Amino acid sequence: MVVNVNQKEIRIGMVGYQFMGKAHSHAYRDLPFYFDPKIKPIQKAIAGRNEAGVKEAADKMGWESYETDWRRLIERDDIDVIDIVTPNHTHAEIAIAAAEAGKHIITEKPLALTVEEAEQMYDAVQKNNVTHMICHNYRFAPAVQFTKKLLDEGRLGKIYHFRANYLQDFIMDPSFPLVWRLKKEVSGSGALGDIGAHSIDLARFLVGEFKEVVAMMETFIKERPVGEMSGGLNATSDNRTLGEVTVDDAVAFLTRFENGALGTFEASRFAGGNRNKNKFEINGEKGSIRWDMENMNNLEVYFTDDEPGLQGFRLINCTEELHPYTEAYWPAGHIIGYEHTFIHLVHEFLNGIAENYQPAPNFEDGVKNQQILAAIEESAETKQWVNV
Ligand SMILES: NC(=O)c1ccc[n+]([C@@H]2O[C@H](COP(=O)([O-])OP(=O)(O)OC[C@H]3O[C@@H](n4cnc5c(N)ncnc54)[C@H](O)[C@@H]3O)[C@@H](O)[C@H]2O)c1
Repeated sequence: MVVNVNQKEIRIGMVGYQFMGKAHSHAYRDLPFYFDPKIKPIQKAIAGRNEAGVKEAADKMGWESYETDWRRLIERDDIDVIDIVTPNHTHAEIAIAAAEAGKHIITEKPLALTVEEAEQMYDAVQKNNVTHMICHNYRFAPAVQFTKKLLDEGRLGKIYHFRANYLQDFIMDPSFPLVWRLKKEVSGSGALGDIGAHSIDLARFLVGEFKEVVAMMETFIKERPVGEMSGGLNATSDNRTLGEVTVDDAVAFLTRFENGALGTFEASRFAGGNRNKNKFEINGEKGSIRWDMENMNNLEVYFTDDEPGLQGFRLINCTEELHPYTEAYWPAGHIIGYEHTFIHLVHEFLNGIAENYQPAPNFEDGVKNQQILAAIEESAETKQWVNV
């Protein structure tokens, strides 16, 4: 690793410390190990409501200190960045307060519960001139970045189709409890905002803006256990009392992109056997590209001008030095994983701060994504095409 003597430091304060808290903590810790960032992240403090829990998390994940109220984190002069890894209904209040205190912000997706909230957040970061990002981390898989490069070079020509599935199965058991992800007032929507939002971001990144959508949504299991429960994607509960599920379990939608391409999407948490099957296929006039998160280093690529008789999808392992980000890691074929997508995202964020430009995806992308989520919900309700 090259030691950069001019390296400045930036002090991070993170709110929340479970699933995404672990992914983001790891990213701050490993970024300077693999890359040579212009600014070095310092894990200054985390905030959580339970003192024993937040203290233990701070010790384990390498944070210097902790607070039991996120407001205190924002008041601190020794914090430059607020990183929000709490459930969706908290993003707006925390982000707006952080922007008003002049802190740079990374927040998890979806940006907010509603378009209105998302716009308020975008206004706040613009007014206070802070750097902002939203964690659509899948953009930062090297194979996805390489797809973007091939598309920008015109290697597929005009794009006809973008086809995406994001399939999980962690809530199929009816005894899986009513966690925050299944309550509209906390999460905004279900499979749609939780995983469909990632496919929408990949589509916007790779193909372009959505023009109109038509959708259907379903909630297969309408009531689930409430009360004391363990958290996360493996939550359990012994309770018999049931409460209402107020979000979608699955959504399917079509879109017409502004450039004329057609999009076909499905997001479900009831696709048994699919643990985190986030995949897309793009078909263009000169070829096709396929990607699947569960084999995230690989890309399947087909070109129409390949030699007749040898035509077909070729498998590329995107770990050569010339593939985006991979030079920082291992020799070709020595693969990387899920956690590295967050390292790359944080790397872009800190570059943006160091060089005074606005990295992407940012709150503007978050607003556009939220507008698409809202149009999909409206379409499913009215059974009509809806303009985005
Ligand atoms: N980028 C991705 O791939 C990805 C994956 C999973 C989750 N997410 C997003 O990350 C966010 C967090 O999800 P998660 O899976 O880490 O959730 P989680 O339930 O594992 O963790 C949530 C954390 O927030 C804390 N918290 C809850 N309410 C709070 C409040 N009012 N004040 C302070 N802390 C509070 C909890 O104690 C916990 O530490 C969500 O917005 C989710 O949509 C993104």
